Amino acid sequence: MIATPYLIGALDIGSTKTCAVLGELLLSGDGPAQVKILGVGQVKPNGVRRDAVSNLEETTEEIRQALKQAELMAGVQPRGLYVGISADYVQTSTSNGVVAIGADEIDEDDLDRVHEVARAVVVPPDRELLHVIPQDYSVDHRGGIQYPVGMLGTRLEAEVFMVLGSGAAARNLRKAVSRAGYEVVQLVLNPLAAGLAVLTPEEREVGTAVVTIGGRMTEIAIFHEGKIRHVTVVPCGGVSFTNDLVKGLGIPYAEAEKVKERHGVATTRLADSEQTIDVPGPAPGARKHMPKELVAHIIEQRMDEVLSLVLQEIERAGFSNRLGGGVVLTGGGASLEGTLEVAHSVFTMPVRCGAPGDGLSGLADSVRRPKFATAAGLLLFGAGRIREGLGNGRGSTLRALARVGGWLREFF
Ligand SMILES: Nc1ncnc2c1ncn2[C@@H]1O[C@H](COP(=O)(O)OP(=O)(O)OP(=O)(O)O)[C@@H](O)[C@H]1O
Ligand SMILES: [Mg+2]
Repeated sequence: MIATPYLIGALDIGSTKTCAVLGELLLSGDGPAQVKILGVGQVKPNGVRRDAVSNLEETTEEIRQALKQAELMAGVQPRGLYVGISADYVQTSTSNGVVAIGADEIDEDDLDRVHEVARAVVVPPDRELLHVIPQDYSVDHRGGIQYPVGMLGTRLEAEVFMVLGSGAAARNLRKAVSRAGYEVVQLVLNPLAAGLAVLTPEEREVGTAVVTIGGRMTEIAIFHEGKIRHVTVVPCGGVSFTNDLVKGLGIPYAEAEKVKERHGVATTRLADSEQTIDVPGPAPGARKHMPKELVAHIIEQRMDEVLSLVLQEIERAGFSNRLGGGVVLTGGGASLEGTLEVAHSVFTMPVRCGAPGDGLSGLADSVRRPKFATAAGLLLFGAGRIREGLGNGRGSTLRALARVGGWLREFF
């Protein structure tokens, strides 16, 4: 195996697939990090996983296999991995800190101090602090300041967004990764990664919800003024569509999954009312014909429900009138043709489907699908961290990040 100076390993353990992506950070100026994709591996579990690591042995084996595939393609082997954690296993909150400014002008040390104060909250024993993301600052009670260094004042206040993960989920993920022979560099909130992979910096700035329709879950993250502001989940996803087809068509799960991926569309408007599909009948070896329109109808009902629940969550979070960029749908569940049509009828804001691609080169085509949004985002997150470490100390990096949009101004 050859050495790659800035190798990044990303691992997404989803409920319907485990995916590893290896890439190399390209050092190219000040803009968002650019990553050359070197290898991709994907393994499907037997059935749908119920929780973070429901069967440690099986998950460990999937991690091994996914990484082996990616390593063979890449010709390199990572040791540490950026590993995604589902939004279902985190709680978020905001916290404030205030410090007095000694000299007149606010400097990097003042910023460090105010972050320290803001994040000094008691973490319950069954929780782990995953991310602390500064949101806004106020100087002498004047709020809405994005980057206070260099300003004059006597009182600096910071608001930080804290992401606390379930201790058990975090432990299980680390255990599975370490048994597979790797180590977790950092656990990263899945929808934070998805937001990096499929939203443009402009979308993150003007306000956009990234909605990842996965297998078991739909994860929602709202970005506004360049930062993640709200995270939540809707407890249904692609697997719900399949389960509905199991019940509606009276066929086994694996068959329903095939029907969905081969013939499924998310709206009856796209289904030919004359056409039928051939599926297993009730007796062994028997077949029966089901109208394509029925398949579409079943999926449409559920898609409408999932997206309506997403809208409710956006409204509940108080962001429905603040999303200039609207909603970007991604995740495997958003691959269904007609998803956008249903979304247009649910949301009264701009909607598009997003797949990774920006900031990626090399074998980027192999991840240019909605189901790879989280994995690609984990890679971009890792790239950002490595680049941060290359800066001359935190100060210069922070200044660089502030210039490029500052999404990653966080301290772990
Ligand atoms: N081409 C496709 N057409 C329809 N559905 C698809 C397609 N590709 C993937 N899916 C569906 O997407 C879902 C999986 O999406 P994804 O890979 O994003 O989820 P996951 O990461 O495994 O799960 P989660 O993040 O919820 O734990 C499955 O239900 C699968 O059937
Ligand atoms: Mg996923």
